[in-house]
Amino acid sequence: MSKKVVVLPGDDAAPEAMEPALGVLRALEVDIDFVEFPRGEQWIAGQTGREVRQAIDNSDSTLFGATSGKTQGIGYLRWGKDTFANVRPVCWHQGYRSPLKNPEGIDFVIVRENLEDLYLGVEVPLPALAPAHLVSRSTGKPLDTSNEGARAAVKVITEKNTRRAAEFACRLALSRKQAGGKGKVTCSCKYNMLRETDGLFRRVVEETVAQYPELKYEQFIVDDFARRIVQSPHDLDVVVLPNLYGDILSDAAAGLIGGLGLAPSGCYGDDYAYFEAVHGSAPDIKGLGIINPTATLLSAEMMLNYLGFASAAKRLGGAIAKVYEQGRTLTPDQGGHASAREFCGAVIDNL
Ligand code: NAI
Ligand code: MG
Repeated sequence: MSKKVVVLPGDDAAPEAMEPALGVLRALEVDIDFVEFPRGEQWIAGQTGREVRQAIDNSDSTLFGATSGKTQGIGYLRWGKDTFANVRPVCWHQGYRSPLKNPEGIDFVIVRENLEDLYLGVEVPLPALAPAHLVSRSTGKPLDTSNEGARAAVKVITEKNTRRAAEFACRLALSRKQAGGKGKVTCSCKYNMLRETDGLFRRVVEETVAQYPELKYEQFIVDDFARRIVQSPHDLDVVVLPNLYGDILSDAAAGLIGGLGLAPSGCYGDDYAYFEAVHGSAPDIKGLGIINPTATLLSAEMMLNYLGFASAAKRLGGAIAKVYEQGRTLTPDQGGHASAREFCGAVIDNL
């Protein structure tokens, strides 16, 4: 059945990855109707936000290029479409320029809670908290709210969203186990310090994984876990993290396999999913045409699977892997001299 996909090319260098990537998707000849928006710089203010939301509502999925704030829709794609699980695979392939001596076999997935934590964006002048008469657990004293220049941010962790992300992680770990994976869920956050918020997150994840006797479970305080990602990434399978740590550590994890150019993601809800690279809009390489489109293409591969085009997804993944094995048409971040367009041309040649 025909599917409808909204394409938001994004800002800065992001469209330079999205546009040739879309050429690759077209070459796959899948039954998808692409609803394309212009890059963020070309938008007419005001009007476009509503049009984007309508297009998203009428679509089966969205492929999103990173934004520096000009492209609208990311807030709607997350909170409007209730996409609670941000899935970020970290998988090394032959030809990826990893800084590690032995990157072979790195294959894990970060499941990042996508809707809450500090990303609700509730920040206030500190004196606004005075009526709550808060007490600092660290000092044992009432919180001094007299500093007018100080700011506070609200971190919210709910049982509902933690459980949804944890359930998603468990089902993913099970399906990976069936395909030969480790069958393990790792939870990490700062539950020793933030006993109420991260403590709740840790407890709910632990309870959820306990419902799956086929799965192993481990948990680490997030500072130690940051070291473990670097020193023993091969031990990981499915990692579940609150929003902020998940955001930060997925960039670090991308560094393990060779950088942000190689890191895809998908954001899944019960009724909708959208797909975007882990990286931002890469303003420092805007206009050079050298942004690595692999992250966008691998996100599109995840989207094809979500939409039920499994064999096209497999062809795409296989063709990307081939280009890295050949090593002749790689972008500068991977040690090559190819442009994004040339890279995508090589992928098309290998489809
Ligand atoms: P960034 O991810 O855009 O770039 C970090 C570094 O990695 C830069 O040196 C960039 O050139 C490089 N890089 C990123 N993707 C690459 C690729 N595919 N190929 C080759 N090199 C690549 O992060 P930065 O610079 O911190 O943020 C830039 C803008 O992006 C900011 O406005 C930020 O708010 C936004 N952003 C948007 C996101 C989104 O739309 N989901 C996510 C993260 C950041
Ligand atoms: Mg990020």
